[in-house]
Amino acid sequence: MSTQLTPILTRFWDDPQSWTLATYEKHDGYQALKKALTMPQADLVQLTKDSGLRGRGGAGFPTGMKWGFLPPPDGGPRYLVVNADESEPGTCKDIPLMMAAPQFLIEGVIITSFAIGCNHAFIYLRGEVVHVYRRLLRAVEEAYAAGYLGKNILGSGFDLDVTVHAGAGAYICGEETALLDSLEGRRGQPRLKPPFPAVAGLYARPTVVNNVESIASIPAILLNGAGWFADMGTEKSTGFGIFSLSGHVARPGQYEAPLGITLRELLEMAGGMRDPKKKLKFWTPGGSSTPMFTDEHLDVPLDFESVAAAGSMLGTRALQIFDETVSVVRAVSRWTDFYAHESCGKCTPCREGTFWLKQIMERLEHGQGTQGDIDKLVDICDNILGRAFCALGDGATSPITSAVKYFREEFEAGLHTPAAKLFPPAASTLFAKETVSA
Ligand SMILES: Cc1cc2nc3c(=O)[nH]c(=O)nc-3n(C[C@H](O)[C@H](O)[C@H](O)COP(=O)(O)O)c2cc1C
Ligand code: SF4
Repeated sequence: MSTQLTPILTRFWDDPQSWTLATYEKHDGYQALKKALTMPQADLVQLTKDSGLRGRGGAGFPTGMKWGFLPPPDGGPRYLVVNADESEPGTCKDIPLMMAAPQFLIEGVIITSFAIGCNHAFIYLRGEVVHVYRRLLRAVEEAYAAGYLGKNILGSGFDLDVTVHAGAGAYICGEETALLDSLEGRRGQPRLKPPFPAVAGLYARPTVVNNVESIASIPAILLNGAGWFADMGTEKSTGFGIFSLSGHVARPGQYEAPLGITLRELLEMAGGMRDPKKKLKFWTPGGSSTPMFTDEHLDVPLDFESVAAAGSMLGTRALQIFDETVSVVRAVSRWTDFYAHESCGKCTPCREGTFWLKQIMERLEHGQGTQGDIDKLVDICDNILGRAFCALGDGATSPITSAVKYFREEFEAGLHTPAAKLFPPAASTLFAKETVSA
């Protein structure tokens, strides 16, 4: 194995009470903030640029560059909004991070706010995760009590308040402009861009929106240096990231590793397939919105460029692994249900298209497909891709077009044979008695 794990954000998750401020301080917590408060704000932005950190929320936009887009201060408020909505199927990194060690995020929020001149930051959390909401509220309370938040932080003259906001649970509210509308109390629907949030974001003021993991990575970068971070990963995809392995894998969970690691290496660390006798059939590199891969792609380096060159997207590093007992048609049908349900309805290609995709996928799943259904699926996807108002529409097409590309014969079987007959759920590795008791 050429690549090792790099536990940074995950390094003390198994400490007793890993989530407390006391535990965080034992592990160098808030040393980075003390350093930041002595530095010019522009140097903090430059350091983030030099580290090469790219957004960990999916699109991989350079974080320091995003901060640099804010217009010069005009005396009015500017905001940091942390995207903690994490609703992409398979994605499971921000929620465990906030549960196990929330102070990484709080310290990152304070440093980022100082760097961009923000005095009120928001964390927008997916509303269903009430346990994480409570943990975050407690973490913020502890930070206030210790003088890391509030007025005149550590005697620096810098003031910051943090509001944790629980959304009502909608995938679209993870899209940054829908999130801002929702935070303002409106129905969460994407805004037309431009203007981008950097210019007119929350309450029409300059706003930085960043993912939890992006912001939580800032303290370690500041403490160890931009070069330390840039030395990990690849030339254009620097640093480390949390890879979430789920599905038919022996030890599912979060594996923090340099970008550029391969699924073959990660699987080896995770104990291999859950049933070693069953072959890997398909997997997603970055959640269900990213085109699926097969066992041919085990050695694709998981960095932004290599995954794109192989025809998919690194996304949120949500590696969902399916073995040969799974019907690809049934799996894609479930994802398509999800996109049809979560479509916000603002634009016609996605609102209508996801509805029709769902009808056809259900027919194929139940062996009741009609002649021409597969071509119709691909045609509808073609009419959504690039024509929808936001990336949810594009994401809805990815599982379908990639599955048809690699497993067309299974879709053809859907014209006459139910997926449950071809791939009985009871024989799946997740349900088979011999695997459960093994
Ligand atoms: C439908 C949809 C859902 C999204 N959900 C999330 C999410 O839950 N968390 C997240 O950080 N970004 C999500 N994004 C991406 C955000 O719009 C945005 O790019 C991201 O928060 C920027 O942060 P980063 O630059 O730190 O990655 C989503 C995008 C779309 C189109
Ligand atoms: S693509 Fe879908 S989710 Fe996005 S704006 Fe259009 S209808 Fe809403």
